[in-house]
Amino acid sequence: MERLQKVIAQAGLASRRKAEQLIVDGKVKVNGQVITELGVKVNTNRDKIEVNGVPIDKEEPVYFLLYKPTGVISSVQDEKGRKVVTDFLDIEQRVYPVGRLDYDTSGLILLTNDGELAHRLMHPKFKIDKVYIAKVKGIPSRENLRKLEKGVFLDDGKTAPAKVKFQSGNQQQGSSIVEITIHEGKNRQVRRMFEAIGHPVMKLKRERYGFLTVRGMNPGDVRELKPHEVKQLRELTVT
Ligand code: URA
Repeated sequence: MERLQKVIAQAGLASRRKAEQLIVDGKVKVNGQVITELGVKVNTNRDKIEVNGVPIDKEEPVYFLLYKPTGVISSVQDEKGRKVVTDFLDIEQRVYPVGRLDYDTSGLILLTNDGELAHRLMHPKFKIDKVYIAKVKGIPSRENLRKLEKGVFLDDGKTAPAKVKFQSGNQQQGSSIVEITIHEGKNRQVRRMFEAIGHPVMKLKRERYGFLTVRGMNPGDVRELKPHEVKQLRELTVT
């Protein structure tokens, strides 16, 4: 479910603020009923939304997987003019990233205009696996990796249990490669988790999201999801 004003804005009819004004002014109907309060949530797949008596044209939903390179913002625009994830697509539809990866993190990010599914995928209750490959400073001990598995205390609370696999260590370089699987999406979570055990991240890549991976792709590559993959994603978010 999404907020009515957001749906109107996403349909390209008005800015978010203007959409709110349209609602307050009684110009918006949901399933034939005028709605004047803000905050009403709608399901764009089921509810019929009209603005000034004209039904909102729902865009064909599209779903893309991008192997985000580093140095790219997980947003649709950047006030500093930096590259954003939607620069990698040349399509009519207005898609948005599902969640975010840091500017300096590479890897898998989904882009879609299906707000409903995006919203569900980001909800922590569905516990979607996000697998990261981290190059970290030093060689973490088993004990420290166990701490990551059990959960570490960050400024915004304790992290949920994670799966951690030590892949390799390089004594000479003073670095290691560690695979970590988390479900949550706290800001800069993986970086802060490794920081908490004294092994700061030098490089970070999201390799997998649920059953989807970037294996075989290169940074900057993008591909449309297959219908069976979209179906499978939906199945991940069934209660
Ligand atoms: N954790 C991080 O620290 N950064 C990301 O981009 C994703 C997860």
